[in-house]
Amino acid sequence: MSDNKHELIVEFENDLQTVKDTAALENIRVKYLGKKGKVTEQLKNMKDLSPEERKTFGSVINKVKLEIQSKIDDLKSNLERKEQDEALRKDTIDTSLPGTFAELGTFHPVTLIAQRISELFIKLGYFITDGPEIEEEYYNFEALNVPAHHPARDMQDTFYLENGRLLRTQTSPMQIRVMETIKPPIKMITFGKVYRVDNDITHSPMFHQMEGLAVDKNVSMSDLKGTLGVFVKEIFGKIPYRFRASYFPFTEPSAEVDIQCIFCKGKGCNVCSNSGWIEILGCGMVNPKVFESVNYEPGKYTGLAFGLGIERIAMLAYGINDIRLLYNSDIRFLKQLQ
Ligand code: DAH
Repeated sequence: MSDNKHELIVEFENDLQTVKDTAALENIRVKYLGKKGKVTEQLKNMKDLSPEERKTFGSVINKVKLEIQSKIDDLKSNLERKEQDEALRKDTIDTSLPGTFAELGTFHPVTLIAQRISELFIKLGYFITDGPEIEEEYYNFEALNVPAHHPARDMQDTFYLENGRLLRTQTSPMQIRVMETIKPPIKMITFGKVYRVDNDITHSPMFHQMEGLAVDKNVSMSDLKGTLGVFVKEIFGKIPYRFRASYFPFTEPSAEVDIQCIFCKGKGCNVCSNSGWIEILGCGMVNPKVFESVNYEPGKYTGLAFGLGIERIAMLAYGINDIRLLYNSDIRFLKQLQ
């Protein structure tokens, strides 16, 4: 019996040497004190002994049990403390490490230009409005003095939908929608997507336009020139620009504004077809036929109007040479423009 005790304790102490963590310790506890453990087995065997033997054996095996239990308890609290310390140590924050930063989004160049233009025209007393991209033929063409046989209506340029509807090819129909709704004085700008059957290095089937309209009793060509002069200066800084006679069905007279080519500074290059000038917008005095469409009293009002492609302005303002860069959503490219 004394051999027994010795054996168990010795074996237990040997086992204990190998214990490195609380999980291993628990295995050892089960091995000795568990339901089928070595000490428990001994206690179970007691029933086969005589009352005399049972007494001595019982007291010996109980001491073994207590000793094992107390050693396990001691080691357990040691190990637990160590494991906690270890967990805390692993958890500490190295404040000298670089942080993880949330990536901030950036505005698209088309948005940036639209914002700059809006700010300018709001200062000049214009309001901003917007309208439908699915437009009626009447607003996109008819009311703007583009008659049925006009080449601009060609199937090659326009995405036609059913029932006389189409994807607007320009923001100009907003001139009609605004004038139908309110009477002069009017000073409005509008931005939006327009669509044309066109797709190559410099054209996208969808692009953005901006439209401006000012109607009142004495709006003149010099108002138009003054306003657009301010616009050119705001976007491109001090740069030579010119008004060149042109034709649009909804303005009379009509003009286009050119700025000096930003790539060759007017010397002539392949971007400006060696002319030294680059066209940036169309404009003119509102054609009386347009006022007729919205039932304004003949001769009572005059108006100025202008329209431009925002991608084109963005490309010139930021020196971007390929329109596809504007649609690729390459964050490295977009970030350069902030
Ligand atoms: N809508 C024309 C286009 O898409 C641009 C334009 C020209 C707008 C002259 C105007 C204007 O308001 O007066 O090419």
